[in-house]
Amino acid sequence: MPLNRRKFILNHAALATALLPLGATVRAKAVYASGLSEVFKDDFFLGTAISNKTLSGSDPAMFKLIAQEFNTITAENAMKWQSIHPDHERWDWRLADRFVKFGHEANMLMIGHTLIWHKQTPPTVFFKSRKKQDALISRDLLLKRLRLHVQTVIDRYKRQIALWDVVNEAVTDKGRWRESHWYDIMGEEFLEQAFRAAREADPSAHLMYNDFNMEKRQKQRFIIHILNILRKRGVTVDGVGLQCHVSLAANAPSIDALEAAIINFAKAGLRVHITELDVDVLPNAWKYKGLHIDDLPIDSDPLDPYKNGLPARIEQQLAERYQALFELFIKHRDKIARVSLWGTSDDESWKNDRPVIGRTNHPLLFDTQKRSKKAYDAIYNLKVKRAP
Ligand code: XIL
Repeated sequence: MPLNRRKFILNHAALATALLPLGATVRAKAVYASGLSEVFKDDFFLGTAISNKTLSGSDPAMFKLIAQEFNTITAENAMKWQSIHPDHERWDWRLADRFVKFGHEANMLMIGHTLIWHKQTPPTVFFKSRKKQDALISRDLLLKRLRLHVQTVIDRYKRQIALWDVVNEAVTDKGRWRESHWYDIMGEEFLEQAFRAAREADPSAHLMYNDFNMEKRQKQRFIIHILNILRKRGVTVDGVGLQCHVSLAANAPSIDALEAAIINFAKAGLRVHITELDVDVLPNAWKYKGLHIDDLPIDSDPLDPYKNGLPARIEQQLAERYQALFELFIKHRDKIARVSLWGTSDDESWKNDRPVIGRTNHPLLFDTQKRSKKAYDAIYNLKVKRAP
């Protein structure tokens, strides 16, 4: 086993004996420990995503905060194909190397995100000519590119990274293969080939399939079905990532639907990871997707209501939503290996620009000043009852 990985496991002995409920004495110690991951150490790994802004060094306080609160990190963008491998012969490891350096120094569990996705992948991967993007390359050539990419990235980081989101978002909410260049050129086979390549590159890695809206039943069933087929062909997928980009409303999605997803994936023999948790507090604006908030029609509903902060009532609702989610995760801690937030402080959340650009969302546990929010206290208090 690579040295760094062994060091990690030794340093996280309590975590590595995974998810076994520990005795009351050990839990009592947590009262004095600081940081949220410490508080959940008997339950699951607790993580966050690191932005390119942080990795490029312009926000040292963010590194400090992450090291204090979390024990797991995912690169929000730095390891995606277009960042790390922008052209056939060109690799740019700078930000990904910083991610791994920080993870190593702070003794973090590191997640490799993501090897094969239809987004944030240069078009040159799929087309015959740089100029004319109409002719797709052959299945054989794309397979060669897939294998080269997957194996080069894993090879570079396998001493430090043992968990990989191998394939991201290959299935639609209705439970069909997503139309993408991967699917158009290789058909269903791309999923299997991606996992085969990853397994060959690091036989002992923990390999995951990651997707959003995993509470949708048709999507769930289809994913379990295709991962079972892979298993029968000798390609084992170890875990499944539920992104969990949820909304404030209790039915979007409901706790019951999420619970069913956790149970169904676990029953199918997959470790469950909550990979990209955030709670969108803004009104639905999907019909204006891609527009800037200043360019919306004059008569559109108020879509950016919390520019100057969250009213106490909504702050409270956010805390309650986070509390309900974490109650669920704790209840199923025997199935859940990790819970990762998609970012640390509200100012850098991708939700400020999606689906409408330039709004002020408040989806995370820390505010724009990096102060912990009520939502933080709500989940902290689930584990540590402070003296009144
Ligand atoms: C998002 C990042 O947060 C944004 O900064 C970027 O512009 C687009 O991608 N599912 C995933 C993540 O698996 O990689 C996405 O991250 C969010 C949705």
